Amino acid sequence: MHLTKEEERIYEGEEGWTKKKAMEILVAIGDINNASELIPIASAHMSGVSYKTIGDAFEFINRLEGTVEVKSTLNPMGMDRELWSEMNITKEFANKQTAVFTAYKNLGIAPVCTCIPYLLEGGAPQKGVHIAWSESSAVLYANSVLGARTNMEGAPSALAAALIGKTPLYGLHQTENRAPEIRICASCDLADADYSALGFLIGELVGNRIPLIELPSIPSKDELKHLSAAIGATGSVGLYHIRGLTPEAWDTPAEKIGVEEGDVTKFYAGAEEADVIAIGCPHCSSLELQQIHKLLRVEGKGRKVKKDFFIFTARAIKQRMQELVILIENYGVKVICDTCFVVSPAFEQYKRVLTNSGKMMRYVPLLSRGAEVRLCKTKECVRAAF
Ligand code: F3S
Repeated sequence: MHLTKEEERIYEGEEGWTKKKAMEILVAIGDINNASELIPIASAHMSGVSYKTIGDAFEFINRLEGTVEVKSTLNPMGMDRELWSEMNITKEFANKQTAVFTAYKNLGIAPVCTCIPYLLEGGAPQKGVHIAWSESSAVLYANSVLGARTNMEGAPSALAAALIGKTPLYGLHQTENRAPEIRICASCDLADADYSALGFLIGELVGNRIPLIELPSIPSKDELKHLSAAIGATGSVGLYHIRGLTPEAWDTPAEKIGVEEGDVTKFYAGAEEADVIAIGCPHCSSLELQQIHKLLRVEGKGRKVKKDFFIFTARAIKQRMQELVILIENYGVKVICDTCFVVSPAFEQYKRVLTNSGKMMRYVPLLSRGAEVRLCKTKECVRAAF
């Protein structure tokens, strides 16, 4: 990979150890992927924040000095920074998690601790802009719905890109690598968690091939968020297109797979016997909080929930929706920020989890001691709580 004189100076360590290490990571990735050069990025988003998943690897982040070169945001960590003592979190974990959080913050990374940076004020990248994001659900949303350009970065490469302000030019940064390779035609009407089920299925079907998805109706932003998260959970692709909706238009690929109602509904399981309800993977938007509140009113009729019920959202959204959050919590539901059911150790005691999230369906059994996850529409999830 070609480096400019300035980049070579950094590579040789003339701007200090931190930048040297970051440049070494970018050069190694660029060389493996035959990148011709580094290109400037507008923002970076960092995963690998929860002490549950990163462990003591954070000692490396602690050694880094200076600050990031571009606007950078953090994914969820392992606990709510304000409510952790009310969660099932040990003091030892809290101390370690605070150290990880502080290490990232000291580098100038905005501690938003959410997987929906694109829904925060000023957080959505423009079409065609190059970024370096990790967190598969956010990568798929940024590439597919917003038309920004990012590869599926890992925690180290996103951090390295943030520290240099550049990323290697390869993969989804290049127009020729963004063409759809397979066509998915869904003939059934879809709504709500159907998009979690559809995304789960599409990820399994396409593997690493970019799909062009044809749908009978236009999904909402929240439905696209769930579709993105579920495709990212089961597939290894960082981009999809939806005919007539997503920003890039392409010729139709020859290979086609049809999806019918039964292919989607087969993912649904009964809501009975769940011991916890968890909504907010990816983190809930303001609109989803409003919808959940409406459902609580209808299904609850003034009663409190009988099962543990958690909603996960971004702190900025919880603060903006403070009054509504109080109304939701009056039903006995807990609205948690900075973390989620998957990356926090606080929820590992549950055995049967009810959710509207396809991503949780994939990751909770892997990361939460084999807990069983049942997918339901949001309305069924709320109804099951009473
Ligand atoms: Fe976000 Fe956690 Fe799900 S990071 S996408 S809520 S697994």
